[in-house]
Amino acid sequence: MRLPIETDRLLLRPHRTSDLDDLAQFRGDPEVVRYVPWPVRDRAATEETLQVKLTQTELVAHGQWLVLAVEVRSTGTVIGEVLLKWAADRQGEVGFALGRDHQGQGYAAEAATAMLRLGFDELGFHRISAVCIEENVASARLLARLGMRQEARLVDNVFFKGAWATQLVFAMLEDEWRAPR
Ligand SMILES: CC(C)(COP(=O)(O)OP(=O)(O)OC[C@H]1O[C@@H](n2cnc3c(N)ncnc32)[C@H](O)[C@@H]1OP(=O)(O)O)[C@@H](O)C(=O)NCCC(=O)NCCS
Repeated sequence: MRLPIETDRLLLRPHRTSDLDDLAQFRGDPEVVRYVPWPVRDRAATEETLQVKLTQTELVAHGQWLVLAVEVRSTGTVIGEVLLKWAADRQGEVGFALGRDHQGQGYAAEAATAMLRLGFDELGFHRISAVCIEENVASARLLARLGMRQEARLVDNVFFKGAWATQLVFAMLEDEWRAPR
């Protein structure tokens, strides 16, 4: 796996300690964290999680997460993060989060597509999945736009931030990735 990954507008790269200011911006936004499993984090808590991210730079064993900073190439600003988990034998799981100011511009789709490419073309994955809370319409729309199929709707499957929540499971197979779209 060769990092960083360059796309048209983005650089997907391992985190650096100097990313703290940019990270604290979106990790402290209640709207951004509403449907993700972490709480609103202040600067100190963001710094703690950044220490972990600094180590999540490889995908060589099952259970590992690769967590990359999403940097806009033209400005050098880190606007979010994109994740790929090596979930099981030749299977991955993808995830993403962007700061509110940078949503609605196709950046998440650009970053997530690069992670699908990494999983299927470089790591030889057979299946990549993603899970989102049903109310997270932006995420479900993005997953569908990426060409992932909704495979399941798991009713009240998770106790999430104080209430039972329904999860949608999306997935794509290597054949679907390679099929002309
Ligand atoms: C989920 C999330 C990453 C989706 O981000 P997003 O910005 O909506 O997704 P995209 O990057 O695909 O952008 C799509 C939008 O940009 C628009 N767009 C503008 N310029 C574009 C371009 N050059 N290319 C593609 N789309 C473009 C599209 O029309 C689309 O708008 P629409 O949603 O109104 O139809 C974002 O909502 C987020 O970070 N949420 C908080 C964290 C979270 O919930 N993560 C997911 C947990 S499962």
